[in-house]
Amino acid sequence: MKQVHISTFGCQMNDRDSELIAQILSAHDYRLTQRPEEADLILINTCSIRQKAEEKTYSLLGRLKRLKSRNPELIIGVGGCVAQQEGDRLLERIPYLDLVFGTRRINELPDLIQTVRQQGRRLAEVGMDRPVRYRPSERSFRSSSIKASVTIMHGCNNYCAYCVVPYVRGPEWSRPEREILEEVRSLAAQGVKEVLLLGQNVNSYGSPGRDGPAFVALLEKLEPIEGLERLRFTTSHPKDLSPALIGCFGRLSKLCEHIHLPFQAGANTILARMNRRYTREMFLERIRALRERCPEMAITSDVMVGFPGEKTVDFEQTLDLIREIGFDDLFSFRYSDRHPAQASGFPDKVPEEEKRRRLSELQALQRGITLARHRGQEGTWQPVLVEGISKKGGREWTGRTRTNKVVHFNADQLEVGLTVAVYIEKGYAHSLRGTLSPQS
Ligand code: SAH
Ligand code: SF4
Ligand code: F3S
Repeated sequence: MKQVHISTFGCQMNDRDSELIAQILSAHDYRLTQRPEEADLILINTCSIRQKAEEKTYSLLGRLKRLKSRNPELIIGVGGCVAQQEGDRLLERIPYLDLVFGTRRINELPDLIQTVRQQGRRLAEVGMDRPVRYRPSERSFRSSSIKASVTIMHGCNNYCAYCVVPYVRGPEWSRPEREILEEVRSLAAQGVKEVLLLGQNVNSYGSPGRDGPAFVALLEKLEPIEGLERLRFTTSHPKDLSPALIGCFGRLSKLCEHIHLPFQAGANTILARMNRRYTREMFLERIRALRERCPEMAITSDVMVGFPGEKTVDFEQTLDLIREIGFDDLFSFRYSDRHPAQASGFPDKVPEEEKRRRLSELQALQRGITLARHRGQEGTWQPVLVEGISKKGGREWTGRTRTNKVVHFNADQLEVGLTVAVYIEKGYAHSLRGTLSPQS
């Protein structure tokens, strides 16, 4: 049996794709190893969303050169979004690289590897003509035994001006509903309690570019699945967040009270140039509707600073929106040019130094808000899905609330996958601490 080592960068969709790669290769006599020095095959599943993400691929490849010179039989392959974007150029740039496979060529990996091995040819396959086929998944190929991600759609048609995803993941494509239902049923039957539905823009599931009733219908059909306890989805685009979808919160009992809704910027001029197709006012209105429907809702978001042409007054509007909404948590980034995304050609680039300053000001503001949101949970009882013994070990266990907050608490004996009641005593910057109910 041969050994494969897989490194994964980027988003949850890439994490899921790496699980699929491991599953596909296991049917071809490969076993996963955590140690690259032992591997016969090393695969890197890459991300190109920001310049820093792309650089990680090149620095990892640099470190692997030594292994290849020690073991000429070793095959090194690069997949994911950098592979899709660079194709042949990657082979030219990295002379010891054997294989480049695009984001839609995962299913063909065993054949590609065989060609490289038997014919000694270097290959770059980045065609996007077919969708990826996700198989009925076995829990053993999953990174957690009680939580699983299920990809429901691929690609994106939105072309936000800063974003490379439509180019590297291709046009939007939704998986047939029947397949998704089957996969979730099978996961639930294997003991999975929580499912996260994945897509770049899940709200337009089944009807690209629009707020499709198909997504709401999918949620409604997932709700009665026996054994499934929690349902989440990511990512939503604010423009496609329909009243029908907002109405699912609080109505579907398994749908958790958390939404990740990236806003990107607070100034309408910037949002328009980003091609986001909503205004600050529309975003605020949707948050208001969500909170009206479900007051305990946790809201997280993505934002970037230093989009071309962003002035101090625009940035102030971003800070202002953050204060007004009070997100539970925020992923914040410095804008970076991504060719061929439109904004890479926009004038009035903001200097790196200024982007850094804006980002640290924004992050300081959010740190205070997150802490206040966590402290706001003190004195409440929360249902917590037990994920395991915490990193600290000993009697400390860890789990998550329905609002996706990490909770630590002490217990002598517990079972992973159980939902227990925890009284929240203290909120910290990144987690909550509580006491287990004596009835648990
Ligand atoms: N599909 C999701 C986001 C995918 S990318 C959505 O539509 O919101 C994740 C985050 O990376 C984005 O929300 C954005 O904040 C950030 N991002 C994307 N392109 C970027 C770029 N060129 N520079 C900096 N941040 C970027
Ligand atoms: Fe990128 Fe916009 Fe598509 Fe999200 S919706 S993946 S930010 S183009
Ligand atoms: Fe990165 Fe590709 Fe995901 S660019 S964020 S790995 S879709």
